[in-house]
Amino acid sequence: MVYSIRATAAAVVLLARCSSASILEFPVTFRNTYACVDILVGTPPQNHILVFDTGSATSWIADKTCANGGCDNFSGYPWKGYDANSSVTSKDLGIYDSIDYLGGGTGGEAYSDKFSKDGLTWTQTFISANQTSMGFIAGEGFLGLAFSSIAEQATKTVMETLMQDGLVDNPRFGLYYGTEFNDTHGHPGKGLLTLGGSHESKYVDGDITWVPGKKDNGVYELWRSNLKTFYGQRKDNNGNPQTNGSLQYELGAANGVFDTGAGLIYVPDDTIDTIYDSIGWNYTALLHGDYIPSCTDFNSTWSVTFTFESDKGSDFTNITLTGDQLRIPGFAYQPDACNPPFSTSGSPYLFLLGQLYLRNFYSIFDFGGKKAEDFNVLIGFGNLKKEWRMI
Ligand SMILES: *[C@@H]1O[C@H](CO)[C@@H](O)[C@H](O)[C@H]1NC(C)=O
Ligand SMILES: *[C@@H]1O[C@H](CO)[C@@H](O)[C@H](O)[C@H]1NC(C)=O
Ligand SMILES: *[C@@H]1O[C@H](CO)[C@@H](O)[C@H](O)[C@H]1NC(C)=O
Ligand SMILES: *[C@@H]1O[C@H](CO)[C@@H](O)[C@H](O)[C@H]1NC(C)=O
Ligand SMILES: *[C@@H]1O[C@H](CO)[C@@H](O)[C@H](O)[C@H]1NC(C)=O
Ligand SMILES: *[C@@H]1O[C@H](CO)[C@@H](O)[C@H](O)[C@H]1NC(C)=O
Ligand SMILES: *[C@@H]1O[C@H](CO)[C@@H](O)[C@H](O)[C@H]1NC(C)=O
Ligand SMILES: *[C@@H]1O[C@H](CO)[C@@H](O)[C@H](O)[C@H]1NC(C)=O
Repeated sequence: MVYSIRATAAAVVLLARCSSASILEFPVTFRNTYACVDILVGTPPQNHILVFDTGSATSWIADKTCANGGCDNFSGYPWKGYDANSSVTSKDLGIYDSIDYLGGGTGGEAYSDKFSKDGLTWTQTFISANQTSMGFIAGEGFLGLAFSSIAEQATKTVMETLMQDGLVDNPRFGLYYGTEFNDTHGHPGKGLLTLGGSHESKYVDGDITWVPGKKDNGVYELWRSNLKTFYGQRKDNNGNPQTNGSLQYELGAANGVFDTGAGLIYVPDDTIDTIYDSIGWNYTALLHGDYIPSCTDFNSTWSVTFTFESDKGSDFTNITLTGDQLRIPGFAYQPDACNPPFSTSGSPYLFLLGQLYLRNFYSIFDFGGKKAEDFNVLIGFGNLKKEWRMI
């Protein structure tokens, strides 16, 4: 679970260039549960594989010395590292930045260099990291997809750079995770991250459910919404639905953060007993290893529903996930056991909706405008067409 908890405003103004806009397609490669994309950096361009993270803003790449043993690399995957010295377009911006995540930290010089994808090239700011405690991630760094309002000094997000340079068609990105979420063995699986557009007609069955974005301190910082209620539902022995363990929050009190950098669904610590109760599971027994959930316990007899609310408190949106959508096999080294879906977020009002949530939908992260002052954020979730579903 990773997302930037630091909030520094970046005031970098780039001149809009005249160029034809387009859409960038990034096939998704899974490496040990980390969803990664390839991107070319520098001149001559070098390929780097980065974990894409909607929970943080500034992109970073481990530098050559960090990758060559300067940083602990226990990911099980090779890190190539960014070598500013061998890129003629690299520019050291003279500022040392550090990012704090839940779960680690990274630091290095802010740089700008050419990024390219699908024949499009742009000047991108990022951190060339000479230190990181995130040696467990299976990429060489992060591609940050949150908002520049929380980017580190002198850096800006990839999407805001592309939008404000006039290089992409639409102020949005779309995500389909594919059907293999552990490892796609060195090449992309079916998943696709699209910057500057979305492909709902290809992937989505029915309508998109739109969740309103939430501002903090007057600006958008993360892909987050007000969480209004949570409830679980299950069928009793007679097949009658039981709704238990409902949680309710005042407008603005609780957050649902949509975070590709997080693996599971993380809930406030003091709600976890209630949440497991609501689906008929015993959290204490799970914790003590007295209950090892079998994958067959993840079935459609139970579901969880999250209700999101706009800042005005006028629109509500329910998103429901059924038990069978939450299976992650391999718990406790047993192929028939599945990983408990909910974990604690460590924060009293934070619901972190990670990969386990997002992979069930085609998701659209829509800024609503190309410049920060025009943003009007919506996050869309569409049910996948049968051929794109995992179950
Ligand atoms: C990082 O770890 C992997 C797996 O242990 C190893 O193959 C690789 O050589 C290490 N170092 C670099 C620079 O990639
Ligand atoms: C780049 O070159 C400079 C000067 O030669 C050197 O101090 C620095 O360590 C090099 N950086 C990397 C990442 O190799
Ligand atoms: C990273 O760079 C900073 C600033 O140049 C320096 O203070 C720090 O010691 C470096 N860290 C490592 C591990 O090399
Ligand atoms: C669960 O909900 C059902 C009705 O939906 C209710 O009859 C039952 O008492 C509830 N159980 C608990 C433990 O709250
Ligand atoms: C939950 O599990 C714990 C430990 O296994 C047990 O002591 C407790 O009685 C269980 N609670 C319920 C309500 O079954
Ligand atoms: C469905 O899951 C519940 C536990 O969540 C379990 O008690 C029940 O036996 C399962 N049903 C089937 C048909 O496997
Ligand atoms: C959404 O959930 C709320 C409970 O939070 C419920 O009252 C309402 O009927 C649900 N709306 C729809 C459209 O399912
Ligand atoms: C997930 O992938 C890793 C790395 O390839 C592998 O070691 C592990 O066994 C896989 N787990 C499952 C459940 O397939």
